[in-house]
Amino acid sequence: MRVLSGIQPSGRLHLGNYFGALRTHIGLQHEHECFYFIANYHALTSITDQTRLQELTLEVALTYLALGLDPAKAVFFRQTDVPEVTELAWILSCVTPLGLLQRAHSYKDKVAQGLSPNHGLFAYPVLQAADILIYKSNLVPVGQDQAQHIEMTQDMQGKFNQAFNREVLVRPEPLISAEAAIVPGIDGRKMSKSYDNTIELFAPPKQVHKRIMAIKTDSTPVEEPKNPQTCNVMALLRLLAPKEEVADWDARYRKGGMGYGQAKQRLYELFEETFAAPRQRYEELKRHPNQVNRILADGGRRARAAAQATMREVREVCGLLTTDDLVG
Ligand code: ADP
Ligand code: TRP
Repeated sequence: MRVLSGIQPSGRLHLGNYFGALRTHIGLQHEHECFYFIANYHALTSITDQTRLQELTLEVALTYLALGLDPAKAVFFRQTDVPEVTELAWILSCVTPLGLLQRAHSYKDKVAQGLSPNHGLFAYPVLQAADILIYKSNLVPVGQDQAQHIEMTQDMQGKFNQAFNREVLVRPEPLISAEAAIVPGIDGRKMSKSYDNTIELFAPPKQVHKRIMAIKTDSTPVEEPKNPQTCNVMALLRLLAPKEEVADWDARYRKGGMGYGQAKQRLYELFEETFAAPRQRYEELKRHPNQVNRILADGGRRARAAAQATMREVREVCGLLTTDDLVG
């Protein structure tokens, strides 16, 4: 089974990215053939500062490696190391109905947030479909917010095979973690870089503590019972604490006599138990960017070989073989 996913280098990674995507990605590397990439072509839809884009690209790489991604197991690469993906995006755009793109929620959301409504942003799902289809991926682990993009990819795959009357591209399925489909941010909305409500994975402990203490709660007095189902602190505790401890907190909420501050303090401890060691590895790796770039270069070569094999078939069924292909 081939697994593929990508993350945009558009900001520092946070708990939502971890539980919604990265944790699953790293877990799957032991069981399947995994391809993970840093979507820097996609990030161009929101970042035009070259230094920042370079820095954030390295940042995503460091984060994956610090959390345990093993480049000997998974193919880990920069999207731009496989330029063929932009060629496939063009070919797919020729079989993609305009109406399909016009229905995309993420385009409307991003324009509402103030991004420029340019063609790159509009065509974003076509490039994402190319990312997935060029590696004949079977499974795409992502958070709930990406579900529509995977459905659109399935549509484009069907349209392509139908238009050229050959089963060249493979239908991918989404894999969305049930317990972490939408991780809430400190204000209770979906945790997202664009809402400034994140808890970053490798921020200094002091900053993490401050963010956790700022999680929005209701004003139920300490002595009264509280609702664990609607509490943002509890939602994060559920992700970080062992099962028995979650049951314990659940009971303490319902009983009353507990302040939200106690739950927040425990959440901070659990955060540190989980991320202190990876944070150290992250700091260490950060001192060796060349080592990281070598890993990405090697991943890029492996990914590109797979992409080129698909593109040869794609060009052939479309009647687009290059002159070099034709003369041998
Ligand atoms: P952001 O919303 O912060 O810009 P991205 O869109 O770059 O995050 O998401 C990268 C990956 O992390 C995607 O697979 C996405 O579905 C997942 N993800 C992001 N935020 C969350 C969240 N709050 N809950 C669950 N998954 C998330
Ligand atoms: N759109 C995804 C996000 O914002 C990133 C992405 C680009 C992606 N190409 C992909 C995810 C291919 C999965 C598969 O998170």
